[in-house]
Amino acid sequence: MNIDPDRFLADLHALRRFGAAGVGKGVVRPAYSEPDIEARRWLAGRMEEAGLRVEVDEMGNMFGIAPGRSLLLGSHSDSQPQGGWLDGALGVIAALEVARAAVEAGGPAVSVVSFQDEEGRFGVTTGSAVWAGHLTLGEADALEDHAGVPLADARARMVDMVTGPVSAEHFTGFVELHIEQGPNLDNAGEKVGVVTDIVGIRDMKITFDGQQNHAGTTPMAVRRDAFQAVSAFNSALNERLRNVVTPRTVWTIGHVSLTPNASSIVPGRAVFSMQWRDADSDRLHRMEKIIRELADEVASERGMEVSFGQMLGLEPVAMDAQLRDALCAAAEDEVPGQWRRMPSGALHDATNVSKLLPVAMLFAPSINGISHAFEEDTAEDDLVTATQVLARAVAASGAR
Ligand code: GLV
Ligand code: MN
Ligand code: MN
Repeated sequence: MNIDPDRFLADLHALRRFGAAGVGKGVVRPAYSEPDIEARRWLAGRMEEAGLRVEVDEMGNMFGIAPGRSLLLGSHSDSQPQGGWLDGALGVIAALEVARAAVEAGGPAVSVVSFQDEEGRFGVTTGSAVWAGHLTLGEADALEDHAGVPLADARARMVDMVTGPVSAEHFTGFVELHIEQGPNLDNAGEKVGVVTDIVGIRDMKITFDGQQNHAGTTPMAVRRDAFQAVSAFNSALNERLRNVVTPRTVWTIGHVSLTPNASSIVPGRAVFSMQWRDADSDRLHRMEKIIRELADEVASERGMEVSFGQMLGLEPVAMDAQLRDALCAAAEDEVPGQWRRMPSGALHDATNVSKLLPVAMLFAPSINGISHAFEEDTAEDDLVTATQVLARAVAASGAR
């Protein structure tokens, strides 16, 4: 089965035009934004042209379904608030191309998906979490983005596209091609990575409540400054975690919101995102305990209140051995000696889908390991090679 590189790259560039922003090939296409919804309308058209039946569930996950039972390929087409052109998009367009190549080759049938809100405007991989039953639609609807918009309101913007629930019974397994989003393949000059397992994640909002006051007249000694609390918490955290973490454990405060966020007002409230990831669930749990204790301690030392938002998370998962081996065999045939097995430090929809179907993942290199940034990129030859490896693995799975 051979993909058409020009057709594949043309569609990848066409998708990038929805929300194209910033320098280079940057994209701003958060879940349920105008560009995201317009991109999904375009994608539905491309799926239909490929002979797939388009179905969209209430979350906005969009499926292009092949006749009969089939392998499902895909990823997501929403982006981070500032993202690159390949995160998610590569997996969706590669899936579309492999589905077309499969029709041209006379099989096997391939279905395509673009999950909604993988990038977590509202949570953590929200669309696939609901599809896989990890979250109920009601629980998801109550989630709010950083601006306080409820997911229920956001998804109402694309309700005209919804056809109804989509059963996992259509599919025999799920394979997601994605960029690595780290430096390993690029540094080694390797062409693809076959994923062994995906890390787990925890994510919650923490709020410090102090006293809003005048920035000129309030003596330092009596201030209850919510940003000072965030700053003290952040400074102490690395040391507190030191004996629990490994070099692969990561933690991030990526969003801080101060109230009222003005130069001449001591901030009375700070809400911030606290996220941590590791391959071991037990370590994630021990980190949670340390995070909660430290936040309590910082608040009580400053006469402030602390509260913890809903804990969102996903457990680490291993890839399905049979699908993973099909990717390894295809990689060795296509790029002998120029690939590796590797874990994923980024999160993916495949984690949720593993609750329903056997899953596997393939990585393409990321130039300089940069992602979740406008500079994210991959050499076009490498994008084509990874997609061809995917097509080869799909053809072999169909032949078994
Ligand atoms: C997904 O984009 C992640 O944050 O790993
Ligand atoms: Mn992604
Ligand atoms: Mn991402």
